[in-house]
Amino acid sequence: MIGLTCAQSARDVLAAAGIRDSYNTARFLLRIDTLTPATAPALTGTYPGSQDKNMEPGQGTSGEGSPMDRTRSQIRPYRPGDLDALYRICLLTGDDGQDATPVYHDPRLLGHFFVAPYGLFEPSLAFVAEDTEGVGGYIVGALDTQAFEERLESKWWPHLRTRYPDPPPSLPPQQWTPDQHVAHMIHHPWRIPDELAARYPSHLHIDLLLRLQARGHGSQLIKTLIAALRHQGSRGVHLHVPHGNQHAAGFYRHIGFTELSATAAELPAPHLHLFAMDLRNTS
Ligand SMILES: CC(C)(COP(=O)(O)OP(=O)(O)OC[C@H]1O[C@@H](n2cnc3c(N)ncnc32)[C@H](O)[C@@H]1OP(=O)(O)O)[C@@H](O)C(=O)NCCC(=O)NCCS
Repeated sequence: MIGLTCAQSARDVLAAAGIRDSYNTARFLLRIDTLTPATAPALTGTYPGSQDKNMEPGQGTSGEGSPMDRTRSQIRPYRPGDLDALYRICLLTGDDGQDATPVYHDPRLLGHFFVAPYGLFEPSLAFVAEDTEGVGGYIVGALDTQAFEERLESKWWPHLRTRYPDPPPSLPPQQWTPDQHVAHMIHHPWRIPDELAARYPSHLHIDLLLRLQARGHGSQLIKTLIAALRHQGSRGVHLHVPHGNQHAAGFYRHIGFTELSATAAELPAPHLHLFAMDLRNTS
């Protein structure tokens, strides 16, 4: 693994992903669409998710905001102030890509599992997509899934296990609530088998709110993370996609991931596909 500072690493990574025009140490601007300089307001300051009203459930749809708002966007490294936005995006896309707000009683439960620990423990592999309405998408990853699992086992799950009890053994899984399913995962997290870890040691999660979908941000976020993973010496990256999320499966195939025929041990749950990308030779 190459030992670089976060800022050096992020600059190189964004350059490697083709995002080179407007980086400075304080701000990353990726202008994905055409700007209208005369009318577009300056993209200044930060966009803490906790103040981002457009992250509220039911919003973030393609009809919101002025046309000007939606023509300006950037991809930049994750900052600690983005954590609340990550939690909200995770919930708003958590039902096979759709809003999971009606599904879960605790609005932070999905984020505890699928996104927050990445921002906290692997911030050099977390990037966000942001427009003038705020942070509306993220990609997060872990370089070494087995090391990440160990880290969560010592630093993350114990606290959550005291807050979210495991469903009682007397209650059959068919009767668990969605919250109880996630609590069970917190108490019994899947562990990657050695063979899969040897070939594809890294993994990722990506989610964009509807207003930022289908505009190239997903592909740019993947490129950015892959550049970061290569930079840090990864051999390969894998991810799991629910069978119910055919849109995401199509996206991963389109951008170069291969679907693997997975053994049961390689799937955290039977309703998932396994996708992977070899990072050793591909450019
Ligand atoms: C899935 C997701 C990350 C894709 O990101 P996106 O920004 O919408 O996709 P992009 O606009 O970057 O698309 C990139 C390319 O993939 C193609 N593509 C996207 N979805 C596709 C699909 N279902 N089938 C085939 N190609 C697809 C696009 O046409 C585009 O092709 P091009 O570069 O040749 O023009 C995004 O839609 C999303 O976050 N959805 C909700 C949450 C989710 O499902 N997350 C994944 C959980 S596993």
